[in-house]
Amino acid sequence: MAQRCVCVLALAAMLLLVFATVSRSMGLRSDEHQRASRIPSEFSKEERVAMKEALKGAIQIPTVTFSYEKANTTALVEFGKYIYKVFPTVLSTSFIQHEVVEEYSHLFTIQGSDPSLQPYLLMAHFDVVPAPEEGWEVPPFSGLERDGAIYGRGTLDDKNSVMALLQALELLLIRKYIPRRSFFISLGHDEESSGTGAQRVSALLQSRGVQLAFVVDEGGFILDDVIPDFKKPIALIGVSEKGSMNLLLQVNMSSGHSSAPPKETSIGILAAAVSRLEQTQMPIIFGSGTLVTVLRQLADEFPFPVDKILSNPWLFEPLITRFMERNPLTNAIIRTTKALTIFEAGIKVNVIPSVAKATVNFRIHSGQTVQEVLELTKNIVADNRVQFHVMTAFDPLPISPYDDKALGYQLLRQTIQSVFPEVNITIPGTCLANTDSRFFTNLTTGIYRFNPYYLQPEDLKSFHGVNEKISVQGYENQVKFIFELIQNADTDQEPVSHLHKP
Ligand SMILES: *[C@@H]1O[C@H](CO)[C@@H](O)[C@H](O)[C@H]1NC(C)=O
Ligand SMILES: *[C@@H]1O[C@H](CO)[C@@H](O)[C@H](O)[C@H]1NC(C)=O
Ligand SMILES: *[C@@H]1O[C@H](CO)[C@@H](O)[C@H](O)[C@H]1NC(C)=O
Ligand SMILES: *[C@@H]1O[C@H](CO)[C@@H](O)[C@H](O)[C@H]1NC(C)=O
Repeated sequence: MAQRCVCVLALAAMLLLVFATVSRSMGLRSDEHQRASRIPSEFSKEERVAMKEALKGAIQIPTVTFSYEKANTTALVEFGKYIYKVFPTVLSTSFIQHEVVEEYSHLFTIQGSDPSLQPYLLMAHFDVVPAPEEGWEVPPFSGLERDGAIYGRGTLDDKNSVMALLQALELLLIRKYIPRRSFFISLGHDEESSGTGAQRVSALLQSRGVQLAFVVDEGGFILDDVIPDFKKPIALIGVSEKGSMNLLLQVNMSSGHSSAPPKETSIGILAAAVSRLEQTQMPIIFGSGTLVTVLRQLADEFPFPVDKILSNPWLFEPLITRFMERNPLTNAIIRTTKALTIFEAGIKVNVIPSVAKATVNFRIHSGQTVQEVLELTKNIVADNRVQFHVMTAFDPLPISPYDDKALGYQLLRQTIQSVFPEVNITIPGTCLANTDSRFFTNLTTGIYRFNPYYLQPEDLKSFHGVNEKISVQGYENQVKFIFELIQNADTDQEPVSHLHKP
């Protein structure tokens, strides 16, 4: 996931027992015909060894994105050759078309037998952030296996998904599987920087007139042991992402010698401006997004009095928000956040600089737009000597449907239940960071971010940090999940509710 803080940070919500919906009753009608021809997700010992060795090989190719302009393109090319080698069936099947997009990204088009079913898209990325060796228990590009886990940069973000997608498809094809519903697999090469690969794939599909039933990308996880005293595992599916803005604040004053200084300098003016900005919180946004619905639905899971508080969110709004404001992570769920990230001014001890600059990084709540946040910021700064330059910005992503009729969401839930029967709670969340899937809003309203992997609290630090690893069992389950999901997606029926909620 891009930009260091990962989607899973949305789990912070759960640390404080909020932001969840319990939805164990809904599901998809089972299809008798489909059951009969279903291929069980059982893999031989040889297949299981081959699948983990394939992942190790992928980790060993250092597909590093160093900066916005710089990547190891040799490794990106090598990765393309590698997938040809390890997934020969995928690459040689007549109803699968493979294209290289934007030089290094990959798009697979899997033609289903029933053109009346709307296609869907599974996506992942194989570029990784740099991994300096210090602090690692094993070299970060070794792919070494230790105590039942494979170590290395990209084992969770996000080569595991890249490999699991192709691996599951390879195994299905070997078993002579022919999908009914068409689908696409898009593998991006620069998610950690600009995402041009995914943008190009999106443009290409749009130019072909494709409309997608849904998209699944990285983002959410299965979370265990995160809420104190709450022992049940929870599957978190990201249904939205916060927006983002990098804003440059600049003050120009005349420069001069420090022996006869003016009353105010560019540094002083800008420092006061950013200080006002830091001390003024953006407004709380309680009603929009998934929060309120989710609090009500989660209420039953808790004893008195938490259940009463959660089931009456409007009544207890002040209490709930005060609680959430205290923790930076839950605070990020109820409002737009801002962080002062760069401050530049001055070059010499006895010269008053003419220019001072500061960069502020905003993460925009789904209840606001870039424009609104910019206006609010100008009002808070309230000094016309400060100039504002928007460097990059995009609005929050729309909230994808997660009701009984939302095909993508319900297919994920159904697959979670069959692969992880112990997981009875699925919740929709908002990613605090961004993924490549944000480029696909023109193609579908259903964009879901979910990795079928049990994330331990310690794993959080390993994203873009040291000792990133995936358990061998966890990776097998991920392959199994995709194997099941592809088959589940062949349903031609609308999702239905088995049990009506009050
Ligand atoms: C780039 O990747 C290649 C392998 O494809 C590797 O041999 C080389 O050391 C990498 N370069 C850097 C700077 O990491
Ligand atoms: C402020 O100073 C910078 C750097 O010298 C310059 O590029 C910019 O045009 C100036 N802006 C104004 C409004 O004077
Ligand atoms: C989850 O659901 C399954 C099947 O309905 C049930 O057997 C199991 O006890 C449930 N587990 C929990 C923790 O509620
Ligand atoms: C979505 O479609 C509009 C209208 O065709 C186009 O201007 C825009 O660039 C598209 N956005 C993306 C992200 O592809």
